[in-house]
Amino acid sequence: MPTNQAAWFHSNGGPFTVGDAPMPQLAGDEILICSHAIAFNPADVAVWKSGLFTTSLPATVGCDVAGVIAAVGHSTTKFQVGDRVLAVPNWSAEDRVNKGSGQLYCAAFKGLTAKLPEAVSFTDGCVLPLALCTAASSLFQKGNLGLPLPGLDLNASKSEAKVLLVWGGSSSVGSCAIQMARAAGLVVATTCSARNSEYCKDLGAAYVFDYTSSTVVEDIVHQLEEKELAGVFTAIISAESITQSAEIAHRLHGNKHVATVIPPMGSSQIPGGLPEDVQISFCWSTHIKDDEVGPPLFTWITEALAKGVLRCKPNAKVVGRGLEAVQQAVERMEKGVSATKLVVEIP
Ligand SMILES: NC(=O)c1ccc[n+]([C@@H]2O[C@H](COP(=O)([O-])OP(=O)(O)OC[C@H]3O[C@@H](n4cnc5c(N)ncnc54)[C@H](OP(=O)(O)O)[C@@H]3O)[C@@H](O)[C@H]2O)c1
Repeated sequence: MPTNQAAWFHSNGGPFTVGDAPMPQLAGDEILICSHAIAFNPADVAVWKSGLFTTSLPATVGCDVAGVIAAVGHSTTKFQVGDRVLAVPNWSAEDRVNKGSGQLYCAAFKGLTAKLPEAVSFTDGCVLPLALCTAASSLFQKGNLGLPLPGLDLNASKSEAKVLLVWGGSSSVGSCAIQMARAAGLVVATTCSARNSEYCKDLGAAYVFDYTSSTVVEDIVHQLEEKELAGVFTAIISAESITQSAEIAHRLHGNKHVATVIPPMGSSQIPGGLPEDVQISFCWSTHIKDDEVGPPLFTWITEALAKGVLRCKPNAKVVGRGLEAVQQAVERMEKGVSATKLVVEIP
């Protein structure tokens, strides 16, 4: 049996050291992944700096992984040892100290794991899992926007289709939302910085607006006033963005619903004074694992990647190789990214 190592932080915001780690003991619905590439998210900074999701120290970071299956739990039939996969590691196992993907081996729920086509590298594949889950929770869950699930034909989008506004299209979550909404047959409008306008168009957005413009709300309302709104997905946690999103939903006709990436326990982050006819909803990305969204989505991911309907965006920027590079990746993440996913490769 191989041995495990992790990049451990020993105090909140303190330095990481690479050291031995227990090999995760699998529950029936889990798989063990030998990591080849790990991607980083804003959540990792919160885990490291403020102990989010951690029950004891030392602890690990990491919410995205791509690698090869080393073992499968007893109730797992969809996957086999040796399969190439992408996954969100299981952060809900309370008795496990090494929950994150910042280690050589991590455990993931089978419901948050997808096979990776041969043509897609681990480095590219690891950029997707958490962002896809987050966007999927907001777009497709019944309590959220409840949109139709994505298909495999990008030409399914029709001129009379409803418009989804994705606020923050150049973020990781926004990039996944644009691609999935387009594959679900919707017309997509989005906001980003002017420098990322072409990036968002390339992902499939039909309308792109600069959120730094003082006229952005007027511009969007003017451009979309003849369209029917499928809803707004605000992929950025910012009071101003939510206020702007709600104002647009209020003024357009259609589904006056703003789905946010704020988790249910963060409802105090919703600003006051929003229009009363606009519904606001919350998101907990990993809750899709065994509902009406997760199982079909994780099958779709493999087919969509193989057909080019889904691409590994934003592009991976490799920070380093080996667990020693985890510290540098989290520090870079703390400074913020623009249409970029920070990745550490595990040789
Ligand atoms: N609830 C959950 O389960 C869950 C799970 C995962 C993530 N999240 C949350 O989802 C959010 C997005 O995560 P992520 O990984 O996608 O972030 P990210 O990629 O690190 O976000 C960076 C992007 O945000 C864009 N941005 C910043 N301020 C903006 C604004 N006011 N309007 C529009 N775009 C803006 C930037 O666009 P430009 O560079 O173009 O300016 C940049 O490309 C985070 O707040 C994260 O905590 C929630």
